Amino acid sequence: MTDFENYAAEYPDCFWIDFTVLENFMREALINAGVPDNDAGIIAEVLITADKKGIDSHGIGRFKPIYIDRLDLGIVEPVTDIKTVTESATTAVFDGSNGMGHVVAKEAMQKAIEKADEYGTAMTAVRNSSHFGIAGYYADMAADRDMIGIVGTNARPSIAPTFGVENMLGTNPLTIAFPTDEQFHFNLDCATSVTQRGKIEAYERSGKELPPGWVIDRQGHSMTDPKTVLRSLVEGSAALTPLGGPGEETAGYKGYGYAAAVEVLSAALTQANFLKDLSGKDRNGNNVPYRLGHFFIALSVKQFIQPSIFKTIAGTILRQLRHSAKAQGQTRIYTPGEKEWLAWQYRREHGCPVPLALRNQLSELNTRFGMKYRFPWENHSL
Ligand SMILES: NC(=O)c1ccc[n+]([C@@H]2O[C@H](COP(=O)([O-])OP(=O)(O)OC[C@H]3O[C@@H](n4cnc5c(N)ncnc54)[C@H](O)[C@@H]3O)[C@@H](O)[C@H]2O)c1
Repeated sequence: MTDFENYAAEYPDCFWIDFTVLENFMREALINAGVPDNDAGIIAEVLITADKKGIDSHGIGRFKPIYIDRLDLGIVEPVTDIKTVTESATTAVFDGSNGMGHVVAKEAMQKAIEKADEYGTAMTAVRNSSHFGIAGYYADMAADRDMIGIVGTNARPSIAPTFGVENMLGTNPLTIAFPTDEQFHFNLDCATSVTQRGKIEAYERSGKELPPGWVIDRQGHSMTDPKTVLRSLVEGSAALTPLGGPGEETAGYKGYGYAAAVEVLSAALTQANFLKDLSGKDRNGNNVPYRLGHFFIALSVKQFIQPSIFKTIAGTILRQLRHSAKAQGQTRIYTPGEKEWLAWQYRREHGCPVPLALRNQLSELNTRFGMKYRFPWENHSL
């Protein structure tokens, strides 16, 4: 993304809807689904933040299939009863009681920030949780307070270990954010697989084939049809490749190692579920809570160095990277967090792109919950 001239062309057949409308829509739908007002506000804010950053795989596109549908199935509790399992000056473990992941995750990061503010560094972890959305939201919370934020979570089994074909590890994001002297934080927020389910769902919604090397079948061959891939991932007959790709040639073992480290940090400190137990099914095929684990680390920059010095050095490093020699045909080098900031510069003016598949979901929820939103695709004006 070097300019915004062609940005809208990347979203054909989309209606561009005001973010406040979509955020309110999600909040109201959650309240109708039994989520307390304050918690509904947190969930809607985390989800709409993904859309504002251009992370379409993890925003309102997942509202119905990942959150409302799981509330309907009864495998996620609408009321998140957060319990403190253990706590020290610089650590804490919380139990999310199978409630909404965003709610306990925000609380856990807030607690890590408070402790780091007093003692310099802190780590909290969560068990019995559910999908918390973008890890970058919580890492940004630390960066907003002049801290370094590191966040990880395990997830449904998806990644095959190097030389394997069985989906064992979650897409396990390992996310790091910190402030700089620029207008946006450094925020490396990504899965430890080459891709993740939300992106495959986004490909499915826009009817595009997946690039080869993202997903393998039980013979180790690439799969490219997103619909088949999503079904096969649930059945366990397909696996995502770790960051670096299949085999050792392009160092897939590095992504595999990071994913394994996140799995252990998410589960072993908390006694959360891990690997295949995160499939969301019991032995008889019944839907059961995921019981995910997450971890949140906050490091207070001021305990190491004056924050302004840290930010200047960080910004200088990032600028030098961006200004280094470009590969042939390339006009721009990005640093982590920059594309999301650029997406927001466009979207704050134009709103959130809503593709066809999503329109149907939103209209369905609108009717189901008796809400009065007048979406433009229903031939009404907002
Ligand atoms: N909760 C979960 O279980 C879960 C699981 C997996 C992923 N996620 C979330 O999904 C989201 C997307 O993950 P993903 O793996 O698809 O991310 P991705 O592959 O789109 O990578 C995004 C990251 O890479 C950076 N980036 C992109 N292009 C760049 C470039 N050319 N140069 C420098 N940096 C660049 C971005 O700034 C961002 O930090 C994340 O927010 C992640 O937290 C959540």
